[in-house]
Amino acid sequence: MAIQKEQILTALAHVLHPQEKKDLIALDMIQDVIVQDKYISFTLEMPEKDDALAGQLQKKCEGAIHKFIDGEAIVDIQVGINVSRSRKEEDQPQQGQQQEVLPGVKNIIAVASGKGGVGKSTVAVNLAAALARTGAKVGLMDTDIYGPSIPTMFNLFDRPNITTQKKLVPLEKHGIKMVSMGFLVDVNQAMVWRGPMATSAIKQFMTEVDWGELDYMVLDMPPGTGDIQLTIVQTVPLSGAVIVSTPQIVALDDVRKGVAMFNKVNVPVLGVIENMAYFIPPDMPEKKYHIFGEGGAKRLAQELNVPVLGEIPLEQPVREAGDNGTPIVIADENAPAATKLIEATANMQQQLSLRAAEIANTQKVEIKFRP
Ligand SMILES: Nc1ncnc2c1ncn2[C@@H]1O[C@H](COP(=O)(O)OP(=O)(O)OP(=O)(O)O)[C@@H](O)[C@H]1O
Ligand SMILES: [Mg+2]
Repeated sequence: MAIQKEQILTALAHVLHPQEKKDLIALDMIQDVIVQDKYISFTLEMPEKDDALAGQLQKKCEGAIHKFIDGEAIVDIQVGINVSRSRKEEDQPQQGQQQEVLPGVKNIIAVASGKGGVGKSTVAVNLAAALARTGAKVGLMDTDIYGPSIPTMFNLFDRPNITTQKKLVPLEKHGIKMVSMGFLVDVNQAMVWRGPMATSAIKQFMTEVDWGELDYMVLDMPPGTGDIQLTIVQTVPLSGAVIVSTPQIVALDDVRKGVAMFNKVNVPVLGVIENMAYFIPPDMPEKKYHIFGEGGAKRLAQELNVPVLGEIPLEQPVREAGDNGTPIVIADENAPAATKLIEATANMQQQLSLRAAEIANTQKVEIKFRP
């Protein structure tokens, strides 16, 4: 029978902290539990750096899982320091101070959806390109380890260099710095990666890439709202999320799940982008077909109390631009879909600035770093 998260938490409740005399679950030191077959991964969150104690607790955790659950389980434990918990109140990062993860990045935006294939990567790539067109310094991170799209969408398949500090140098095209698993391994190889390996790859994209100073970092998220997505949104100090959907009801149900995931970690949803919203035949520009239905994103946005940032038409040149390696906003900025994507980007920037002040005053983002 598949191992359940609850079993893991119950097993780890047998591990006592030697000084506190309480168990690790009661002390809330176990986070990001991921189970996949016999692979179990989680973060042991220490209030401060203490390698000896961390090592001791790691062994005990592994022992408890082998004893109470499965003697053959493969246990992958990351040690994290919960900075927000260990810092005294006056030491908390203030607005304008540096964050520990992606310290040089001003705005980090996740482009997500509940359902696959709705156009996340297309939107993420064009958002990044539209931001770069304005002269902003932009990064693009392909967090879709199992199905990276960025290499094809930019026709970029080089291997990145490594700096003397052992950091990965992002590839650059159209003024956008980018990293994708597709630059590093054969895509078919990534397909067989286990959940914990994928998660640690993402963590390396955050901490071991020489991103430098950026105004915006756009994250192209994998489809769905599973453990990997949750780990990403918990690890990165996101400024906001953009949800991509088609007008279909099924897609909208999935959007709700996506929104719930961001709400869970207090990341503001900046708005919904409705993709494939309608089709205008190039030879009959007076006609407009709502192939996937109509008005769905508007209703959803009202329900969620977030704006519709844009309605992007279904257009052959969008797909062709994606397949040929030049995002449509660069290939043909006058194409109707490009104009809509550029507008949606401006709307997103507006939402970002509206939310920024509000969030800085209401919410402390829990920042973790890996020692
Ligand atoms: N507005 C559009 N007009 C025409 N084709 C589009 C449009 N948006 C996306 N596509 C095409 O649809 C396909 C799926 O898009 P994309 O890869 O961006 O989706 P995704 O949500 O990232 O998928 P996945 O969930 O697999 O990551 C691609 O071939 C893309 O070129
Ligand atoms: Mg994609």
